Amino acid sequence: MLESSATVVWRLMAIDLLLKDGLVILQGKPTKRSIAIVGHTIEGIYSDGEEPPAKEVMDCTGMYVLPGMIDMHVHLRDLNQSYKEDYDSGTRAAAAGGVTTVVDMPNSVPPVLSRSVLDMKINRARKQRFVNVGFYAGIPRDVTAFDTALVGDILGIKVYPHAPLAGGVTWNSSRIHAALQLSSKYNLPLLFHPDLARGKAASITEFFSKHSCKEEANAVAMFVAALQEVGGHLHVCHVSCASAAELIMKSRAEEILTAEVTPHHLFLSRDDIHGQDGTSKVLPPLRSRQDREVLWYMLCKRCAIDCVASDHAPHTRDEKMRDFAEALSGLPGLETTVPLMITAVLEKRMTWADYLRTCCYLPARILGLRGKGILAKGFDADIVVVSPEEYEIQGDTFFSKARVTPFEGRHVKAKPVMTIVEGQIVYDHGRFVVGPGLVGCVPVRKR
Ligand code: NCD
Ligand code: ZN
Repeated sequence: MLESSATVVWRLMAIDLLLKDGLVILQGKPTKRSIAIVGHTIEGIYSDGEEPPAKEVMDCTGMYVLPGMIDMHVHLRDLNQSYKEDYDSGTRAAAAGGVTTVVDMPNSVPPVLSRSVLDMKINRARKQRFVNVGFYAGIPRDVTAFDTALVGDILGIKVYPHAPLAGGVTWNSSRIHAALQLSSKYNLPLLFHPDLARGKAASITEFFSKHSCKEEANAVAMFVAALQEVGGHLHVCHVSCASAAELIMKSRAEEILTAEVTPHHLFLSRDDIHGQDGTSKVLPPLRSRQDREVLWYMLCKRCAIDCVASDHAPHTRDEKMRDFAEALSGLPGLETTVPLMITAVLEKRMTWADYLRTCCYLPARILGLRGKGILAKGFDADIVVVSPEEYEIQGDTFFSKARVTPFEGRHVKAKPVMTIVEGQIVYDHGRFVVGPGLVGCVPVRKR
């Protein structure tokens, strides 16, 4: 029997992997489709019965097939803080959590203020990674001493007021202007931690008053005023207060001022802090229920907050289980963000379009990543298969070294079961099926 011409073309194209009969979001609705992958790339999306033959077929019946999350705010530590997290454990956590690209913050030890430290990080990530790992740089004490050799391999410049990144400097208007001028000269976003309070708080009460919503809104106002004078692209990290979100909404101009929110500020409030240890200690702190509701509104209804980022900030159990005042700030997020956000979709708190926009498409766009963040023909095959199964979050099942989570015991309704990076299955039902360093890239910003 003669083969149809379509079949012949398919044979010539040699589909490497077919994700068959999964639920792909088309026009906002889960729709049964198959995804064909050739090499690193999505070759096409096919209706039932029209799929090309493939070397490997994965049955995805009843599972959501989605673009992997792009998490633009992650602390992978490594180097001298490998005891908290390293590129192996952190990117395993990402893959198991349905995150296919992470961008690593520069407040490592040593911090990313020079090309030589960035090279050390890139080399270690290349050997250990299971997903794509991008990088940010910090700003030195003397802004004019910024190492321009960093520019080609970073996705943004981070303003962080504490050690190890130029701790102790004052972020006055002239320094903010200089930082914005620097980032816009190289067409990079200036990411900014909207809390300039310094020093340690001696009690829970002092921690909350030191890092108040007033502080956050003031910091946002200062940076937005500078943006309006200097221009460039300002990205506000982890917006946590209604007042700060409202300020951003009023000052928004697409792609000049962007913002992110974390899952802990969307799902938790100060009322969820039980006990005296540091399980829920994070910067910015958890806020009121009312702040939380405004953040959802700004994310989904007003689009004043562009995207969701985990701010995965790993610490050891000992560092978290101390008395609140002594415990370190930061929570693991790579293995809980996608399950929590998809649960919000399934519970109709947000739509599928909101999920794809805030967790995949807009992070890629803010960072200028070519070929990422969308599940469509010609895009990179960075994909997660998610099973609609209910389970309880348990920190001791994490691949991350950081296993103390304020989400302990919480029920979610979505479990990432298979993660594909650049067309390769990396993670499959709890197991890693490739070795470290065999997939992934250092994503670069399109210019
Ligand atoms: C972060 C960390 O530990 O690096 N901690 C945190 O509470 N979020 C730093 C940060 O992003 O503020
Ligand atoms: Zn952070």
